[in-house]
Amino acid sequence: MKSCHPDLSGDDPDVTSFCMFINEIYGVLSDPMQRMVYDEIHGYSLTAINPFLDDTSPKDHAFVDEFSCIGCKNCANLAPDVFRIEEDFGRARVHCQSGNPDLVQQAIDSCPVDCIHWTSAAQVSLLEDEMRRVERVNVGLMLSGMGVTSDVFRMANSRWEKRQAKVLENVKVQLMKQKDTDNSRSWSSFWGKPKNYQNSEEETNERAKRAAAAARRWREYSKKGADKPPTFKLPDAMTKE
Ligand code: F3S
Repeated sequence: MKSCHPDLSGDDPDVTSFCMFINEIYGVLSDPMQRMVYDEIHGYSLTAINPFLDDTSPKDHAFVDEFSCIGCKNCANLAPDVFRIEEDFGRARVHCQSGNPDLVQQAIDSCPVDCIHWTSAAQVSLLEDEMRRVERVNVGLMLSGMGVTSDVFRMANSRWEKRQAKVLENVKVQLMKQKDTDNSRSWSSFWGKPKNYQNSEEETNERAKRAAAAARRWREYSKKGADKPPTFKLPDAMTKE
């Protein structure tokens, strides 16, 4: 928020809209009830299935495993609206998810190291989050044997499992402590205190709708990317668990 606030960033409309977007998501995540809906949609609810074990979600998002990409540029030549070669590391990244799926499939088939994958929306956000956490080296250095190679799918999978185990553990502890607690009180212990909502049915529906809309916007944002080369990069993850 600090770096993209309009007071600091000037009048760049892309940055301002990104700032409003963060604000909207923050509003949703600060409200325990909305967060439950949001988490449900993103595969983080208490009862969610691990997105990497869930075969029911459509695999309609492309993902480049940058640990394996050798920067041959085949994909960027075949589907330039979807794949771009990242300047810093010389590897391909998915720039936009709304390109022609047939061309994406051709890129997948022609990749010499099989590092492009079809993934679900929940998987791709976990995988991209994982990629942001690891230190990458330029592909030239990687090919000369420097840098680490990791299984990003395994890492993202295990981060999801750990996070979910932590949430479930918290729930168990809280439920043991608060015998006659109601749902909203127990959630407030995990995600912070709810605002003073009236809890009318109308208001509950309204909050659920807001959370679903925010989750949808996030999904669209991650699917579509920018229509032109991004001028504002997503910030690096702040914390490492
Ligand atoms: Fe990399 Fe494969 Fe493209 S090696 S540059 S992802 S075709």
